[in-house]
Amino acid sequence: MTRHFLRDDDLSPAEQREVLELAVRLKADRHCVRPLEGPRGVAVIFDKPTLRTQLSFSVGIAELGGHPMIVDGNLAQVGTRESIHDVAKVLGRQVSAIVWRTFAQKSLAEMAEHSGVPVVNALTDDFHPCQILADLLTVTEHKGSVAGLKVAYVGDAANNMAHSYLLGFATAGANIVVAGPESYQPNPQILEDAQRIAAQTGGSATASTDAVVAVSDADVVITDTWVSMGQEGEKAERQGETNPFRSFAVTADLMAHAKADAIVMHCLPAYRGYEIAADVIDGPQSVVWDEAENRLHAQKALLAFLLERS
Ligand code: NVA
Repeated sequence: MTRHFLRDDDLSPAEQREVLELAVRLKADRHCVRPLEGPRGVAVIFDKPTLRTQLSFSVGIAELGGHPMIVDGNLAQVGTRESIHDVAKVLGRQVSAIVWRTFAQKSLAEMAEHSGVPVVNALTDDFHPCQILADLLTVTEHKGSVAGLKVAYVGDAANNMAHSYLLGFATAGANIVVAGPESYQPNPQILEDAQRIAAQTGGSATASTDAVVAVSDADVVITDTWVSMGQEGEKAERQGETNPFRSFAVTADLMAHAKADAIVMHCLPAYRGYEIAADVIDGPQSVVWDEAENRLHAQKALLAFLLERS
């Protein structure tokens, strides 16, 4: 059976651990596993902007012995110029895996249904599971483990990062709380899925409308932009002076409620003065550069895992 990574809970808790253990090995020895030796090709398609994702998949696929084929979504126009079904069939005949950043989660599912090779979610409107693998690796490096920690995500609790934190950190057995304004709360179905997973892993998953409650005694504090890709038209209401996210900004004042040794994470790009204060993201508790580097190691491990199991 072809294995895909379309959302965080496509990996069981044991499989997530296995991927993260391989990521640790790959970080220590970047060429220790070479499943794409040949080189075998991997298509990496972008329908939204990218820096870290294009970089980390390109470098990672090359280090696994393969050839990254970057596909500009504007040229390919997957689903418009040609159906997703037809693109999946064509790609599946030529590459060993497909990595796709796009808008709708259901497009990704359709690609996976017809490709015959592993499909990886490189960010959709609903999830960003590759970032969560990098973040789990980062937390493990700084805190020793993830299970049992209090992890607080504050800001737009209705976006892709919030949903992936709920699923991915529940899978790891953390106590994950996502906090945002009343009208920016997570999809109830995803919250429920996370709670079901947490019941098995010994963690918990909750949503809150109070940033201070969320961050109190947290081991890890996380935020993300208030204006995700595709929401540029809502910039005035999301970032303007009276925006509803202001009390969720990660400032030194908010951080005072977290544990003294709490770490701060942000998937980047970051907007200093909005979702995070400059003195926090550039301060001693921030581990954002480790996070950015860990995209590489985590995604290599994921690709190696999916190729081996497919
Ligand atoms: N929520 C952000 C994440 C960027 C990596 C977005 O979708 O733009």
